[in-house]
Amino acid sequence: MKFIGTTVAAIALIFSGLVFAESSAADDVEKGKEIAAGICAGCHNADGNSTIPIYPILAGQDSGYTAKQLRDFKAAGGEVAARDNMIMAPMVATLSESDIENLAAYYSQQQPKPGTAGNASLAEAGKRLYQGGNLENSIPACSSCHSPNGQGIPPHYPRIDGQHAAYTLSQLQAFRLGTRKNDTNNTMRMIVSRMSEQEMEAVSEYISTLR
Ligand code: HEC
Ligand code: HEC
Repeated sequence: MKFIGTTVAAIALIFSGLVFAESSAADDVEKGKEIAAGICAGCHNADGNSTIPIYPILAGQDSGYTAKQLRDFKAAGGEVAARDNMIMAPMVATLSESDIENLAAYYSQQQPKPGTAGNASLAEAGKRLYQGGNLENSIPACSSCHSPNGQGIPPHYPRIDGQHAAYTLSQLQAFRLGTRKNDTNNTMRMIVSRMSEQEMEAVSEYISTLR
């Protein structure tokens, strides 16, 4: 009987541990929501579904990717930030590591509302590049890392489906200029160095149509 009692106690302990972990995760999302409403909503909207095309949609993004971006915007030890952006730099300057985790968890749980598609013929040209790459210039298919429907492969390859075309284009240009250099092993910088301006515009348009 003593053995059974101990087992029951152990199971109860494990169970209460699970319940505790779950409720504290919910508290963290709640904390993320508060910061999002106070500081970030002006540009990204309260639920991360920005309606202004130069501000990215954050809703539904993998939390590991979002947390990495928030860290990468920080300029540490007098060095230029790996993702050097003068709008986001002051936004992340005062965020603690747990604020970053909480914000990332909050946005990952929001339902994305994709932007609307604009130019259909441009999107069609972008589709070929996205799904098949451009062999002649050694541009790999975007689908190989970001998946055919743009959902990405978390946490390293972000989802990009339904993102505003203007924002996506700005990131391809930032990788080309080198103001964004937070892609491990130069992956994106290598790819964009082989792309024409027209290809960047077309593929950005196509990505905005992905669901
Ligand atoms: C004044 C407008 C503004 C505010 C306020 C703002 N952002 Fe941003 N955010 C931007 C812009 C512009 C970019 C694109 C930066 C770039 O080009 O690298 C961005 C990019 C991001 C990204 C990168 C998304 C991706 O797909 O890689 C994240 C994450 C983000 N913001 C989170 C936040 C959070 C969290 C807050 C609040 C603490 C916040 N932002 C406040 C304008 C804003
Ligand atoms: C070999 C894998 C790989 C391929 C192929 C690839 N990407 Fe990426 N891409 C990445 C990685 C990794 C990141 C994230 C870098 C980081 O951590 O910030 C990224 C980030 C991006 C972002 C930034 C997303 C955001 O929310 O800011 C865009 C846009 C993008 N890729 C577009 C493309 C396009 C368009 C193509 C095809 C021409 C492509 N990628 C092909 C690996 C890849």
